[in-house]
Amino acid sequence: MGADLKGRNFVSMLDLSREEILEVLDTARRLKEDHKAMGKKPLKRKTLAMIFLKPSLRTRVSFETGMTQLGGHAIYLAPTDISLGKRETTEDIALVLSRYVDIIMARVFGHDVVVDLAKHATVPVINGLSDFEHPCQIMADFQTIIERKDRLDGVKACYIGDGNNVAHSLMFGAAQVGMHMTVITPPGYEPKGEVTKQAAEIGGSTGSKINVSNDMATANGADVLYTDVWASMGQEDQAAARKKLFAKYRIDGNAMKLAHPNAIILHCLPAHYDEEIDYATSRLPNSAIFDQAENRLHAQKAIMAHLAGKV
Ligand code: CP
Ligand code: NVA
Repeated sequence: MGADLKGRNFVSMLDLSREEILEVLDTARRLKEDHKAMGKKPLKRKTLAMIFLKPSLRTRVSFETGMTQLGGHAIYLAPTDISLGKRETTEDIALVLSRYVDIIMARVFGHDVVVDLAKHATVPVINGLSDFEHPCQIMADFQTIIERKDRLDGVKACYIGDGNNVAHSLMFGAAQVGMHMTVITPPGYEPKGEVTKQAAEIGGSTGSKINVSNDMATANGADVLYTDVWASMGQEDQAAARKKLFAKYRIDGNAMKLAHPNAIILHCLPAHYDEEIDYATSRLPNSAIFDQAENRLHAQKAIMAHLAGKV
């Protein structure tokens, strides 16, 4: 314990070491148990700028609420407010915002944009989702898995669906914390090869087995079943075609039969019921979907408190 994350960025799950991930998760647990665990107003007079180039329910509301609960303030910047890259360069936006605010959170399309913000900002930058990664989501997912399974290392997690941003961050995170990860996708929709390679390399030293498959039978014995939409934000034009290709890559009664009887069900939401998950399965007692959504609040409060040097 005692990692100093003050001033650091959280753009990728790889920005935190295994020990740092576990320490932030412990802070999140403490904040959930007692919202004053970090003192009454640890981020008093601190401001978070929230840049959104895509829609959001959970990320926007949990970051804004989290900042209020920590005694600070959050500013929502809609796509049309700053027209990032059109009205003004990413570099100038990073430099200007750094003169006003204490943390920047950004939800973007290309991952290079959030990397560029982090490069030029003089305050911490948090990735609130890019086309490549969604690390804040994975911190909430890990908090939820610990709540239900008491551990991360050795847990057999299985992600079913598109090899997307959420899958990438899960693979990076799982590899770091020693969780086994099987990603099952239709052929041609696997996670990026570089992510699989890097996650497998990290996993080699932490005991995490990373496996990519096109066969639903590899969900066999999973402790965690996880899915996400088949077409992500920005891929709306592919949604109809993907419905046919992805039809069997979903969490339903058949997937539940393959998994361990006590397997928990996760979905980062928003859900498209009767596509990647059926409604009845999503409401089973083993579903932790809404705990997962709640934990965005606690996990992100912990991330902000650590990056602000207040833990
Ligand atoms: N899971 C998630 O990031 O949800 P939003 O898109 O609503 O923020
Ligand atoms: N993969 C999804 C996640 C939404 C939270 C998307 O990028 O739209």
